Amino acid sequence: MKIGSRSARIALAVAGLIPLAQGIFDFATGGLGPEPVEEITHRTGQWALRMLLLGLAVSPARRLLDAPGLAPHRRTFGLLAFLYASLHFITYLALDLDFRLGDLAEDIRERPFITVGFSALVLLSPLALTSTRSWIRRLGKRWRQLHRGVYLAVTLAAIHFVWSAKADWLEPGIYAAVAAALLGLRIPGALGRKRANYATLRRAENSEPKG
Ligand code: HEM
Repeated sequence: MKIGSRSARIALAVAGLIPLAQGIFDFATGGLGPEPVEEITHRTGQWALRMLLLGLAVSPARRLLDAPGLAPHRRTFGLLAFLYASLHFITYLALDLDFRLGDLAEDIRERPFITVGFSALVLLSPLALTSTRSWIRRLGKRWRQLHRGVYLAVTLAAIHFVWSAKADWLEPGIYAAVAAALLGLRIPGALGRKRANYATLRRAENSEPKG
């Protein structure tokens, strides 16, 4: 099986759905412990963040392993992240708030960690919706710009996790450090692109006829 082949992508998607299948099994067999709603929120939130981080790890891994075929897996991880984040949100809305939309609006306004989590989900939504080939073609250069929103979404998701922790900061701290490292790896590339754009602009200006 080739690393970026269709079967590899399907295998990854199936593997990414295992935590969901496990959750459904545990729910059906009473294996979610004494606080099932908390446990579902916990699992879906953590898997959403893990998938986001795995998606961010694809490009550095591609360069490190010289494996350009890994590229399509970013999309699979991104869609899995959106799936788990949506389930996490739905759990909160349905099981915590009993679909009281007024309470949701109040929480988004008044509980900062919910504001931040909700913003992360809102940012991820257009990325998930425009992840198809036809949208990539339709949006052209703007697609790349739009999809850079994932960096902000990961930052917000990591802050949301740290903020939601009541006592034990170690785990959210580790996730935040991994997110910071994966985002930090992008900085030299972004600076290089900026310098190259500036140089192109200067060349164009200098080659314009004077007078
Ligand atoms: C990309 C979007 C999001 C990600 C990645 C995410 C991730 C997480 C993570 C990792 C946790 C900690 C789970 C634990 O270990 O117990 C968490 C907790 C939580 N999240 Fe999110 N979240 C997101 C969006 C949201 C949204 C949209 C809401 C609701 C509007 C929300 C509500 C909550 C709640 C209520 C908790 C539990 C806090 C507690 O323990 O009291 N999250 N989230």
